[in-house]
Amino acid sequence: MVKAIRVHELGGPEVLKWEEVEIGEPKEGEIRVKNKAIGLNFIDVHFRKGVYKAATIPFTPGMEAVGVVTSLGPGLTGMKFGDLVAYAGNPMGSYAEEQILPAEKVVPVPSTLDPVVVAAVIFKGMTTQYLVRRCFKVEPGHTILVHAAAGVVGSLLCQWAIALGATVIGTVSTKEKADQAKDDGCHLVIMYKEEDFVTRVNEITSGKRVDVVYDSVGKDTVQGSLACLKTRGYMVSFGHSSGMPESLPSALDAKSLFLTRPALMHYSLTREELLETAGELFAGVTSGVLRVRVNGTYPLC
Ligand SMILES: NC(=O)c1ccc[n+]([C@@H]2O[C@H](COP(=O)([O-])OP(=O)(O)OC[C@H]3O[C@@H](n4cnc5c(N)ncnc54)[C@H](OP(=O)(O)O)[C@@H]3O)[C@@H](O)[C@H]2O)c1
Repeated sequence: MVKAIRVHELGGPEVLKWEEVEIGEPKEGEIRVKNKAIGLNFIDVHFRKGVYKAATIPFTPGMEAVGVVTSLGPGLTGMKFGDLVAYAGNPMGSYAEEQILPAEKVVPVPSTLDPVVVAAVIFKGMTTQYLVRRCFKVEPGHTILVHAAAGVVGSLLCQWAIALGATVIGTVSTKEKADQAKDDGCHLVIMYKEEDFVTRVNEITSGKRVDVVYDSVGKDTVQGSLACLKTRGYMVSFGHSSGMPESLPSALDAKSLFLTRPALMHYSLTREELLETAGELFAGVTSGVLRVRVNGTYPLC
């Protein structure tokens, strides 16, 4: 038996219960991992509240962790007892002392990186990798708009896009967040509670507007985001922190816009994609191109 946080009914943080669970031993293609650090994500909240439906109830939340391999399924090669590995995404269940994982879903963690930093960044950082390098390929000369620029993904997005040569405009709610976004190198920061972000983007770009909007906010920002785009611009709607965006087709017609609702799991379909995504992320953290903020650490129980 191991201890884990379980959800028996949907709701606020009070539904998280600390319990003993039986996880069994790894089967073919699986490993058992003793977690050293577990990352928290907005998607954990979506599952806890029922915005996304968990496959079973009760369930153990959590989609990101770093841990040590403690046992391997029969015949498994390419990995050994004591290896430090990380994973992000499915399967859900990282809020636990130990878990069983498919070996093909984990990546080796460079010994130079702090496991706490890796646990804080792997889900958000791999998300950022596919957003700026593959979903829409950010290049020098692009002007991009990033909502929630001081959020965890938003901060990484700004840093990575700046390193790729883009001009980055960020939106934030408060002065403190504006300071953080500027500290990340954001070229122009809009405090959307004090000024209309569509008007400001129009002014800043002298009416040219932006090549891509990375919109994780959803319902509250979607229409404004579309208004900020150039003709044939890209609307990358990758989250819905304020609620699901409403349907969009007529707004797309007006400027031949591209719309995507991407997810990390669809950008790490193969082992090669997963290793490349994690490899670029770890290289960015190691070189200092990406500064990771660990805003808080908490005991598991
Ligand atoms: N598609 C994918 O592959 C993928 C992967 C990872 C994360 N995501 C999504 O990306 C989003 C951001 O994730 P994150 O980890 O960066 O979250 P985060 O650090 O908590 O940032 C969320 C930010 O969104 C802004 N926001 C605006 N309206 C909000 C509202 N009603 N409630 C809460 N926040 C609101 C806030 O910034 P201001 O105060 O400045 O407005 C907040 O700081 C989430 O929706 C998450 O589910 C998607």
